[in-house]
Amino acid sequence: MHIDIQKTTESRIGQTDFDNIVFGHVFADHMFIVDYEDSQWKNPRIKPYGPLTLNPALSALHYGQSIFEGMKAFKRSDGHILLFRPEENWNRLNKSAVRICMPTIPKDIFMDGLKSWLALDSDWVPSIGDHSLYIRPFMYATDDYLGVKPSSKYSFIIYGCPVNAYYSEPLRIKIEDYYVRAVTGGVGYAKTAGNYAAAMYASHLAQKMGYHQSLWTDAFEHKYLEELGTSNFFALIRDTLITPQLSETILKGITRDSVIQLAKDLGIKVEERLFAVSELLMANKKGMLKEAFATGTAATVAPIEHLHYKGEDIRLNVEGDTLANILKKKLDSIKRGYTLDTHGWVVPV
Ligand code: COI
Repeated sequence: MHIDIQKTTESRIGQTDFDNIVFGHVFADHMFIVDYEDSQWKNPRIKPYGPLTLNPALSALHYGQSIFEGMKAFKRSDGHILLFRPEENWNRLNKSAVRICMPTIPKDIFMDGLKSWLALDSDWVPSIGDHSLYIRPFMYATDDYLGVKPSSKYSFIIYGCPVNAYYSEPLRIKIEDYYVRAVTGGVGYAKTAGNYAAAMYASHLAQKMGYHQSLWTDAFEHKYLEELGTSNFFALIRDTLITPQLSETILKGITRDSVIQLAKDLGIKVEERLFAVSELLMANKKGMLKEAFATGTAATVAPIEHLHYKGEDIRLNVEGDTLANILKKKLDSIKRGYTLDTHGWVVPV
């Protein structure tokens, strides 16, 4: 695939303070763009990161045909750039595309675009501490037409930003007992903008009460735990790691999957199943709830120190050699190329 490349004449990297980076505020110099029109992907190009020209009738803005991914690139000590499970992101993007009536993107366009853009912006991949280049591939509908129907035109774009951890402290989480993020038959498993919009009001209320996020429960009875909206949920009860089973209402997290595998590698019993709020509360009362944590590309493995549910508070240890800390270290070390990648997850660019 030939990609037209227009390099920036004014790199912003010299003005970027990599030591004090705030998640999602500073963007690498370039972006990859490809357009979909007349049933084919056309005009792949890389140009300086910057504003897009949008028509007010742009269908993505009105009817929400917009999907995205989150992935990360790491710099190994020898300077090589490593991607973590990029094929999983490509796969999930296409699952989201099908559910939202958008065209799928061929693997070669996704991968060649990603690698060519990364080659150009490789200096933006930080090598310090917990840092990485967060990559945001996304697709949106570009018809300028006010009728409600799938758009006939789309753009797919990849851009990125150097980041530190999404959560800078252990999490305080409110278990949601009224609002709903996703329902069976809906789009909860798709990484589509509307899911994040649907989650914002309750999360905002929870944040006003001092929590970082809501932990969603099922839409019918608010009985079963689901996900956190930014991440998947795990709890260690006695010696078993439990996470809600995947369903139409839960995003199939790539970090979730990796953590399950790494826990199994450590000989830990992992259960993916229906996980009732009452089971979590009871386990805590009996002193059997040892830990809880969230997993996600942005969140990595984020320990939870406080869970709140209808006036009940659960306080958890997040210090020392907790399972969350062990899994985070292991995963990090694989992603950065320090530990042998026995699962074939890491892709050098
Ligand atoms: C990710 O983890 O990649 C996400 O998309 C979550 C978002 C809150 C940054």
